[in-house]
Amino acid sequence: MFRCWPSARALDAFPKTGFSMARLKNRIALVTGASRGIGYRTALALAKEGAHVLALGRTVGGLEELDDAIGTEAAEAGGSATLIPLDVTDYDALDRLGASIDERWGRLDIFIGNAGMLGGLTPLGHIEPKTFEKVLAINLTANWRLVRSLDPLLKASDAGRALLVSSGAARSCKPFWGSYAISKAALEALGKTWAAESAASNLKVNLVNPGPVRTAMRAQAMPGEDPDTLPPPSEVAAAFVELVLPSVTQNGALYDVPSRSWKSA
Ligand SMILES: NC(=O)c1ccc[n+]([C@@H]2O[C@H](COP(=O)([O-])OP(=O)(O)OC[C@H]3O[C@@H](n4cnc5c(N)ncnc54)[C@H](OP(=O)(O)O)[C@@H]3O)[C@@H](O)[C@H]2O)c1
Repeated sequence: MFRCWPSARALDAFPKTGFSMARLKNRIALVTGASRGIGYRTALALAKEGAHVLALGRTVGGLEELDDAIGTEAAEAGGSATLIPLDVTDYDALDRLGASIDERWGRLDIFIGNAGMLGGLTPLGHIEPKTFEKVLAINLTANWRLVRSLDPLLKASDAGRALLVSSGAARSCKPFWGSYAISKAALEALGKTWAAESAASNLKVNLVNPGPVRTAMRAQAMPGEDPDTLPPPSEVAAAFVELVLPSVTQNGALYDVPSRSWKSA
């Protein structure tokens, strides 16, 4: 059963006005995979810009930690959170999520499709079918189900912004990264199609390649790598915030964080 509750602190903090530096004051932002890593830092960074963040993930402890951090670091800017403990492969719950957002706010200003799974590095012929299907379900199908659920809400915003988190793997197609690379290449096709379909609206849909980032997923992929050689997720999160501001004009493009440049997707 889908549960969506604002913490007492979140309700206290929302809405607040009068913080001129907060560029996302009173904007409603959904971040999937907000319980750790890049998504956690992105949710916190959005809240520090004054957004009310709908933070989705399975690990309640991680979401509660985020809520605490938002209460400490973002309340002054008017930032707050609603925690959504949910598995993105619970597709019926994603439908209900759209209905709940519609009922409560009537719109969604920002959607960051970040939740993802690596699925292990294995030759194509040796990937367990269940693993392949799970990677596709989380990295691709869940985002399409969220498009179905959220598109009208994003178009109800005066400046809806959607950002789908891809990977360099979508294009490099390195050996053994098969299920992950395939899921991200298909996610890029999803994003480009959605952007083309939204061209006549206020909604801008873009993709982002974070590059290698110091997270649990990267450590799983590259266990021998020194994490201190990689940028922390907070650095990438700061870039993500710039990609969902109302001032963004790109649509259907891919932003490459390592080179700090837009690529035509
Ligand atoms: N780190 C990198 O170097 C790198 C590079 C390129 C692209 N990326 C992409 O960046 C995004 C974030 O990755 P990360 O490095 O931050 O990974 P991470 O630390 O493993 O975090 C993944 C996040 O996704 C959530 N998630 C996974 N399965 C889920 C499910 N079924 N339902 C709901 N949430 C789910 C996890 O939360 P729960 O487990 O609590 O559900 C967690 O919050 C991913 O899309 C990844 O592919 C990362």
